Amino acid sequence: MPWPRPTYSGKVSRPTLEELTAALAKVNDPEIRKPITDLGMVTDLAIDEAGVASVTILLTIAACPLKDTLTRDATAALRAVPGVTDVRVTLGVMSDEQRAELKTMLRGGAPEKEVPFAKPGSLTRVYAVASGKGGVGKSSVTANLAAALAQQGLKVGVVDADIYGFSIPRMLGVTGQPTQVDDMILPPIAQEVKVISIGMFVPGNQPVVWRGPMLHRALNQFLADVFWGDLDVLLLDLPPGTGDVAISTAQLLPNAEILVVTTPQAAAAEVAERAGAIATQTRQRVAGVIENMSWLELPDGTRQEIFGSGGGAQVAESLTRLLGAQVPLLGQIPLDVSLREGADQGTPVVLGKPTSPAATALRAIASGLATRSRGLAGRSLGLTPAGR
Ligand SMILES: Nc1ncnc2c1ncn2[C@@H]1O[C@H](COP(=O)(O)OP(=O)(O)OP(=O)(O)O)[C@@H](O)[C@H]1O
Ligand SMILES: [Mg+2]
Repeated sequence: MPWPRPTYSGKVSRPTLEELTAALAKVNDPEIRKPITDLGMVTDLAIDEAGVASVTILLTIAACPLKDTLTRDATAALRAVPGVTDVRVTLGVMSDEQRAELKTMLRGGAPEKEVPFAKPGSLTRVYAVASGKGGVGKSSVTANLAAALAQQGLKVGVVDADIYGFSIPRMLGVTGQPTQVDDMILPPIAQEVKVISIGMFVPGNQPVVWRGPMLHRALNQFLADVFWGDLDVLLLDLPPGTGDVAISTAQLLPNAEILVVTTPQAAAAEVAERAGAIATQTRQRVAGVIENMSWLELPDGTRQEIFGSGGGAQVAESLTRLLGAQVPLLGQIPLDVSLREGADQGTPVVLGKPTSPAATALRAIASGLATRSRGLAGRSLGLTPAGR
């Protein structure tokens, strides 16, 4: 070292390695969201006589996009330990064996290519947001419910399964790309929501023309290869219609529940009903109906029902009849300029303008979902023939 070391004052005793480890245990890997000390990322931790703490942090891959964040967080954590006078962080890269160990650990020892949410003991609630028709607000609802649930403290993930019209990353303001650690994908996180979208794997916004089997594989990969961690809620933004992705979802995630989005007009309601009716064939449960673009609140407080009225209630009633189980209308979201603006700016309206009319409705729906208990209420027990 070219400069003289400061003499150690001796007023505060030199911290032990245990104390330094405890400090580093508060540092989470920004992508995996677990303590770096649990991930085998910390080596060569030492402290010298002068109180200078040094540590090597092993990155999962050399090109880790968040290495500056890690260095900063680790430095701050060590600096905060009484007796530490200075901190030196060196970055290294995991060996193949260390990476393999990390992957096994993250997968909880489970064999690869398993969809964690489909396992019988999974505690993650899976909601597939569906509608028969395009442009009714599925992606807006998905992005806002995800952000609202995360804000309520739940661990939330979103799969943008709309292969043809991916819009979730933009709506949630995702700027990062997924990090690939061998065959495991670490999703970027925006608004505390883990987000994965087919759009992240398509170079330069090229249109994607994928057939059924490829869609199925892509979805399987999103669900199995992405490191989601322990999620409380996983939301899937489905493409419009009742096609391949809906069937794949049902196969890959038999416990997924469907949230049907509709607008108030009768024609849209009929189409939405068809989307919900798929559940009779796949034996999925319909968690409820969300009516969007319900009305516009005028400055004098009156409501202008631009797209008619009653669609949501109509869908809920007919699905209740069709499925033989109570399908509630979970909420009505008014037309609201701030919802569209929030989507365009990447800040969901529930966070950006939480008291606006649309955000208020969306937050109420999210609260309802967050407190719903698991159970058999409303679940089709599959005792009737599965349609056709
Ligand atoms: N309640 C609302 N108030 C104002 N604008 C809205 C509302 N809901 C949705 N929008 C706007 O309508 C457009 C379509 O919404 P969105 O993309 O969420 O629909 P979608 O059902 O996902 O469409 P697609 O079928 O194309 O995937 C967006 O520009 C969105 O910002
Ligand atoms: Mg959409």
